[in-house]
Amino acid sequence: MKLPSNFYKPLAIGAPEPLRELPVRLERMLHFFPPHLEKMRAKLPEIAKQVDVVVGNLEDAIPADAKEAARAGFIEAAAKTDFGQTGLWVRVNSLNSPWILEDLIQVVGAVGNKLDVVMLPKAEGPWDIHYLDQILAQLEARNGVRKPILIHAILETAQGVKNVDDIAAASPRMHGMSLGPADLSASRGMKTTRVGGGHPFYGVLEDPKADGGVRGFFQQDLWHYTVGRMVDACMSNGLRAFYGPFGDFQDDAACEAQFRNAFLQGCVGAWSLHPNQIAIAKRVFSPDVGEVTFAKRIIDAMPDGTGAVMIDGKMQDDATWKQAKVIFDLAKLVATKDPALAAQYGL
Ligand code: GLV
Ligand code: MG
Repeated sequence: MKLPSNFYKPLAIGAPEPLRELPVRLERMLHFFPPHLEKMRAKLPEIAKQVDVVVGNLEDAIPADAKEAARAGFIEAAAKTDFGQTGLWVRVNSLNSPWILEDLIQVVGAVGNKLDVVMLPKAEGPWDIHYLDQILAQLEARNGVRKPILIHAILETAQGVKNVDDIAAASPRMHGMSLGPADLSASRGMKTTRVGGGHPFYGVLEDPKADGGVRGFFQQDLWHYTVGRMVDACMSNGLRAFYGPFGDFQDDAACEAQFRNAFLQGCVGAWSLHPNQIAIAKRVFSPDVGEVTFAKRIIDAMPDGTGAVMIDGKMQDDATWKQAKVIFDLAKLVATKDPALAAQYGL
């Protein structure tokens, strides 16, 4: 076992010190772009202004014969775009692919000082994080990278879910995790053909009615268990949890409902794969104005966060004060980026 005193030491001579806490950043949507397509690269500067994070995708959905073009396209776009406050991430190929080594060497070598996060697909256990951690340290040292590049794991295999707590605790380089419902469905042997969201057959049938009338069938959330485990693993290690992709671009309402469940369960953002999903994620992962106003009333009524008060007939105490702080702190962060919402929040 690694000694606790070594946990925060750089893994290579000349690599930057690991962070003790994540930088405070708004990451409501992780917006994916396919960097092998010229047209998409051309749109990047405009898109970067509308989103919290852009992710250059080198993995699934990029054809095998376009992997090198995607890598080169990502480097070109990353080098020439001014991202301002917007995060720059890359989803590299998986550890068992022939491409990842060159993805890391070339991307960190060319744009390591602009890159915030490497997204690691199909993370199975802490050993995957340790491997990437060590290579990133070597590449940071070799290329004079000044701040540590963080790791975001995609939770998309049965084994990854089994090891989710150990993945979260594997390195101070961990940023967080995203649910990868498409790969996870396959890995678990789920009988679905979708990318995220619910399923019409997964639900609960109402009890038989005395009059023999039609029984209601209520769809349930297929992802509730996994999101819950991911949120607990992330939050107990100071990391952030995200819903991943929602693949039905025709069904914005279902996308919104799925994102909102994740938000209420503790996630801070989701992937946007289509421009429509940017607005959905912005709406869902910015706290509701009514909730922020109520949270502010709780905080004002209990300035030191202790005791008990009644507000509109509802009991408030130290625990609801903490809930109010979660919402209010998020609202303050959103307000730094969104003047319209800041005004609605009264901030
Ligand atoms: C994402 O990569 C997924 O498999 O859902
Ligand atoms: Mg996947």
